[in-house]
Amino acid sequence: KIKIRLANYLGYCFGVKRAIQMAKDAKVTEKPVYTLGELIHNPAIVQELEEQGIHIVNKAEEVKNSTVIIRSHGITKEEYKILKENNNEIIDATCPYVKRTHTILKHLVKENYPVLILGDKQHQEVIGIRSYGNEKTFVIGEDDPIPKIKEKRLAIMAQTTQRIEKLQELVYKLLSNFNELRVFNTICLATTQRQKAAEELAQESDAMFVIGGLKSSNTCALAKLSSVYCPTYHIEDEKQLASIDISPYKCIGITAGASTPEEMIIKVYNVLLQKSGDFKTVTSIEEIPMF
Ligand code: F3S
Repeated sequence: KIKIRLANYLGYCFGVKRAIQMAKDAKVTEKPVYTLGELIHNPAIVQELEEQGIHIVNKAEEVKNSTVIIRSHGITKEEYKILKENNNEIIDATCPYVKRTHTILKHLVKENYPVLILGDKQHQEVIGIRSYGNEKTFVIGEDDPIPKIKEKRLAIMAQTTQRIEKLQELVYKLLSNFNELRVFNTICLATTQRQKAAEELAQESDAMFVIGGLKSSNTCALAKLSSVYCPTYHIEDEKQLASIDISPYKCIGITAGASTPEEMIIKVYNVLLQKSGDFKTVTSIEEIPMF
């Protein structure tokens, strides 16, 4: 019999749950309501909101005299300005942990520090954070070269979903080059907990299934960590399991990114159970064994 277990921490984080709740609470009255970009990368939730009358716009310039919900990743300073100028009411669901990075960066810029942000340049969260910086604010990815900084002091911070080891490595590398290095651990606890739990489970499993958007950076980080220890399948939904042969594995682990709903985790678990020859099904996440 194949053993299938869930990571100790997985799925929706505090910030995503909060954003979904704020969107669901939004009243669609005489003013139209929009989210700026998909609220979370999850078709079921996007559809639910559509049914509630909440639609997606992709650019701040496109909305006027409406209510606009800002998703947990946050937006840029310029986008806020545009939304306000166009007479929109804002429901700000930016995660408080992301807001904290904005505030820290604003202070650092005021104090004239050069700042390195460890993160993915193209990610909305990072684009949002970066907008509070100036010409001395740099974003670097995991393996990017470090930009030349003439000053002898530097501040470092990170995208909330980065791996803590990568931040540690960066600090270690830079310490000898500066007289003063200010490090802000802006990686959020939910991220660290999920990553640690995934790593622990992967070490004790023959294969890992990581559920979440292929473009979701926190899900990709989980898949990368798991793949160090065992074969890892990054899937978006249960349908993708059809072509995967699980018979070589005795012990399977499941984890999920911060925007993956419980229903999807349950669906994947049930299909894996079936594939293992067990025809029982579960209806709630509490019924699934945890690591
Ligand atoms: Fe916020 Fe952390 Fe989630 S920053 S959106 S609680 S991953």
